[in-house]
Amino acid sequence: MTAEVRRAAGARGGAADPPRLVALIPAAGGGSRFGSALPKQYADLGGRPLLLRTMERLAAALELDATAVALAPDDVFYDSVVGPRDGVDALRCGGASRAESVANALAALGSRCGDDDWVLVHDAARPCVPVDALRRLVFELADDAVGGLLAVPVADTLKREDRETPARILRTEDRSGLWCAQTPQMFRYGVLRAAFARPGALAATDEAQAVEALAATGACSRPWLVTGSALNIKVTYPGDLALAAAILAAQENAA
Ligand code: C5P
Repeated sequence: MTAEVRRAAGARGGAADPPRLVALIPAAGGGSRFGSALPKQYADLGGRPLLLRTMERLAAALELDATAVALAPDDVFYDSVVGPRDGVDALRCGGASRAESVANALAALGSRCGDDDWVLVHDAARPCVPVDALRRLVFELADDAVGGLLAVPVADTLKREDRETPARILRTEDRSGLWCAQTPQMFRYGVLRAAFARPGALAATDEAQAVEALAATGACSRPWLVTGSALNIKVTYPGDLALAAAILAAQENAA
């Protein structure tokens, strides 16, 4: 859906001051599925730490007013592996879950963000997000009052497992209208704070889910899906590093 259609659908526009664009990178995970003593955000990806690759990708694609990185309070790697960087605030506010890390970082940003400012939450573990997808997200949502996220339509056939007989198919699910959520997820700061202030919000597995719950109360409209990219993989297992490195190399060659 185009930005024009969204405007016609009731989105807001014409704020006096242009909203700021703040990147928030949750990077407080221990990476248990990654299975390494070094959390995955610090893993070597073609000679540079994964988190740094992610930060550089966002900075190369977008005109960011600020970047905040949510780190575990006991993180002992950031200072030596990434180190101080212009325009980047390292917030040692990570929580037990991704949602908690994001909610804590939003609270920490309180003095620096107005309700209309945009917060672009992006997983440290997605270093390959294409520049054009990032710009599309920001362009398509620019005049919206709430926000949305990058996502891709489900391409594979979906099988429901029979819980009583693991690995046996119960049925095939209808995939029409289903999308896989990615990051960045870009929302107005005030919307995100209100969404995460609600009971149960910390159980959300992404920001959009928390905003959807807020929208269900009538407090705001529902988030938008903006077409992302299959290249925007999330590094989850050690084997994903080689795939991410290959994608980055192909992107760098094409640039
Ligand atoms: O573990 P997973 O890949 O789903 O984590 C997604 C992102 O959320 C990662 O960048 C990870 O560092 C971050 N995270 C966090 N705080 C947690 C758990 C995950 O910031 N407690």
